[in-house]
Amino acid sequence: MHGQWQVAIDFGTSNAIAVVSGPNGWTRPVTFDGAPLLPAGVFAQDSGALVVGKEAERGALRAPGRFEPSPKRRIDEGRVLLGDREYDVSWLIGAVLGKAYAEACVLTRTRIPTVVLPYPVGWGQRRRAVLAASAAAARVPAPCLVPEPIAAACYFVSTQRVVVPSGRHVLVYDLGGGTFEATVLRMGARGFEVVATGGMADVGGNDIDAAIVAYLREQVRPDDGAWKQLTQPGSSLELQASRALWDGVREAKERLSRAASTVVSVPLLRVDAPLGREQFEDMARPVLERTITVTLGVLSDARIRPSDLAAVFPVDGSSRIPLVATLLHRALGVAPISIEEPHLAVALGSLVAAPAQGSGPSRSGAAPATPPHGMPAQGAAPPHGTAPPQGSPAQGRPAQGRPGQSRPGQGAAPRGVPQRGVPPQQGAPTRPGIPPYGVPPGVPPYPPPASPPPYWGIARPVPPPYVPPPGSG
Ligand SMILES: Nc1ncnc2c1ncn2[C@@H]1O[C@H](COP(=O)(O)OP(=O)(O)OP(=O)(O)O)[C@@H](O)[C@H]1O
Ligand SMILES: [Mg+2]
Repeated sequence: MHGQWQVAIDFGTSNAIAVVSGPNGWTRPVTFDGAPLLPAGVFAQDSGALVVGKEAERGALRAPGRFEPSPKRRIDEGRVLLGDREYDVSWLIGAVLGKAYAEACVLTRTRIPTVVLPYPVGWGQRRRAVLAASAAAARVPAPCLVPEPIAAACYFVSTQRVVVPSGRHVLVYDLGGGTFEATVLRMGARGFEVVATGGMADVGGNDIDAAIVAYLREQVRPDDGAWKQLTQPGSSLELQASRALWDGVREAKERLSRAASTVVSVPLLRVDAPLGREQFEDMARPVLERTITVTLGVLSDARIRPSDLAAVFPVDGSSRIPLVATLLHRALGVAPISIEEPHLAVALGSLVAAPAQGSGPSRSGAAPATPPHGMPAQGAAPPHGTAPPQGSPAQGRPAQGRPGQSRPGQGAAPRGVPQRGVPPQQGAPTRPGIPPYGVPPGVPPYPPPASPPPYWGIARPVPPPYVPPPGSG
């Protein structure tokens, strides 16, 4: 029974999302300060201890030099300077994983034994080892690692009742806050296999936010001094105003996925600027069209015609923009399967795709010798050490560079992404500075409460792993 509790932590460049599942199919997203997202930034306090999420973002307002907004982008860097202290990058990532794990344990009132971590499919052995070492640094149980697009596809076939016959292909279109990835998967005899993948390490919702900020400048026409206060803040007040501007823009963008129009407030200048869906789409279109171009390139690499696709799965937060589905449909001739909570698909699907209880996690970050349901067949996995779609441009701002596509056997996705070496981290560093995440004191041990709280938030509990029909493949 104990092993029935699992937590999947989708550690993104913008947010971490954790979902727990337990006995009776009870499945629930973990909340942080009341929201189902943990902002992925990390802040070093005066004492050297690391804090994450909203607390880290508050810290950034007084000491931005001690804030790292996206530790996932620093995964190749070995050590990262926050203020005047250096931290092993596994500590920064571990701080986020540890917080997510600790909150999951508080929610379920148990020390959850099984942890599943999805990772970008282009990540080689070295980055997967850093991810596993980060979990160890935070005293999180050794995780089972699952490729993100496979997790996403497993979610659709197992929970959304999408049928993918053996031998057929699907496309996972993953547009988050700072990265984009398109992956073609094939349903093989043992589950999904990766056929081709590609992406852009510097394209996502952040770019659309930046386009809206540029639009506001055109509309409001502030004098240069006032605008500089907002875009290059120096004082604490300006930092707060700048933060309020970017938060307000992001929230307005998210509202426009449902509403036809909204208003964005520009702090310091005290202006409310109206923004309509059509204007917004004009700004978002150039960014989204780049993702469509990459998607078509990945399909071409996979030697798949769009009409051959059994299904198209848009996932991650930015795929909620209605124009995404419109452009995908137009370009592919296949209607994508849009769901209410695409940002949860990878985390929920990880619980489905993870190896069955007892088969053991991939402790080193390497693919398990026998792929479980939903995992790619061994020969289809990306080669270890290839350059991944995940780059490390500064702080999520757009960088220049051509989109890239790759087949797993061919290596790198985007060109121009530097590969910085970092030796795999082993063991759990115990230096002061990293908070002792894990189960906080006072958490009662297993068993869980006799009657768990009612299930909410997701359409249905996650059922057992999808098993292809006998004789298929
Ligand atoms: N309703 C919505 N409409 C438009 N955009 C949205 C909506 N909800 C969330 N987003 C955007 O999704 C992005 C965050 O997505 P998500 O949390 O899935 O990213 P992530 O997984 O951390 O990033 P990445 O996949 O790039 O590593 C943000 O840019 C956010 O504004
Ligand atoms: Mg993501």
